[in-house]
Amino acid sequence: MIMDIERQFQQYFGKDCLIASAPGRVNLIGEHTDYNQGFVLPGAIDRHIYIAMAPNQYKKLNLVAPGFGESFSFELDHMRPVKGWPTYLLGMIYMIMPEKHLPEGMDILISGNVPIGAGMSSSAALCSAFGLALNEFFQLGLSGMQIALLAQKTEHRFAGLQCGIMDPFASLHGKAGHLMKLDCRSLEYEYIPFDFPDIRIILVNSMVSHSLASSEYNLRRQQCEEGVAVLKKYEPAMHSLRDLQPRLLEEHKAELDETVYKRCHFIVEENQRLLDGCEDLKNNDLDAFGKLMYASHAGLSKEYEVSCIESDFLVNEINKLNGVKGARQMGGGFGGCIITLVDHHAEESFILDIQKKYELQFGKIPDCYVMNINEGAYILKPLA
Ligand code: GLA
Repeated sequence: MIMDIERQFQQYFGKDCLIASAPGRVNLIGEHTDYNQGFVLPGAIDRHIYIAMAPNQYKKLNLVAPGFGESFSFELDHMRPVKGWPTYLLGMIYMIMPEKHLPEGMDILISGNVPIGAGMSSSAALCSAFGLALNEFFQLGLSGMQIALLAQKTEHRFAGLQCGIMDPFASLHGKAGHLMKLDCRSLEYEYIPFDFPDIRIILVNSMVSHSLASSEYNLRRQQCEEGVAVLKKYEPAMHSLRDLQPRLLEEHKAELDETVYKRCHFIVEENQRLLDGCEDLKNNDLDAFGKLMYASHAGLSKEYEVSCIESDFLVNEINKLNGVKGARQMGGGFGGCIITLVDHHAEESFILDIQKKYELQFGKIPDCYVMNINEGAYILKPLA
C-alpha cells in the first residue's frame, strides 16, 4: 500500500512525501448517544483514508484525489470556500494551524478504501489523517484527542453537521482486537477486547447513501436538547439526556411533545443498552449482546426514526438467517450499513442469502464487507 501511494505521489508531484493513514470505524452499539454525552462502543476498521503530503515552493495548496478523478488548486493568499471533500481539508487547516492558514505551499494526494456515505465515517477518517499529517509535518505536538476535537469542530463549522465526537475519536484511538467504550462527557475511555475468533463482523451496505448534513441529523440533536430544556426544571443537575432517569421521563411525559418524548426515550434506553452490552461482552455472552443490537435497531427505526425501508428490510431478513447473533443499522442513519455479528461457518451463505433477498426486493446487490478491528490512525511514513 505504502509503495502504491508513494508511486502515485511521485507521478503527480515528482517528489518524496509523508503519508498518514486513518481508518473508518464500526460502532457495535450506542447510536446517537455521543452528542447526548452518553457512551459509544466503536472500533477502528481495516479500511483507511491515506493522505500523502509534501511542501511546495509556489504558495499553493494542490489537492488531488485520483480515486474521484478530481483535483483542486488554491493560492494560499486567496483561499476560497468549496463544496465536497476539499472542505474538510480547508476546515482542518483553519482549525489546526496556529495562524489559521498554511505557512507554506503543500501538495496533497488523497486515496483510500472507506466507502463514502455508508456510515463508516469516511469524512472523520479524512479529517483524522490530515490532522495527523499536519501535526507531524509542523511538529504541533497535538494529542489524538485534541485532533479528534478539532475534526469534530471542522464537521460542525465547515460541513454543517452537528455531530458528536465518536467518529474521529475512534479513528485516532483504535486498537487491534479491541472496542473502545468512550464516555462522551468525560472523554475517558476503556479498551474492551473483542476476542471472538468464531464470529465475523459483517457490514451489509444498503446502498442507500445517507446525507446526514441534510438537516435530519441536526434536527434530532435539537429535539434531544428540547427534551433536556423541559425536564431540567425537575432535575437542575441534568445537562444532557445522559443524566435523564427513566422515571423522570415517564413522570413528565405529558409535558413533552410526542416526538421529543420518543427521541428522549430512545436515547435513555440506548445508553443503558450500551452499558448492558459491555457487560455481555465481558461475559462472552454474544447471544445477549445480539438481542440488544436488534432492540437498538427497533428503537432507531420506531422511536428515533432514522432508519429507512431498505435498512428495516435488511435487519428483518438478517434476523431470519442462520448463524446470526445480532444486526442493526449503524452510524447516523437513513441508510448506510447494517452491522451484523455472524458465526464464521455461516459467513459465505449469509452473504449469498442476504444479497439474493435484497436484490429480489430492491433490484440492487448490497456490498458486504467482513471487517477486522484494527489499529487507529498513524504516520505510515515520515518525510525523509
Ligand atoms: C454520525 C456522527 C456521530 C454519531 C453517529 C450516530 O456517525 O458523526 O457523531 O452521532 O452518527 O451514532
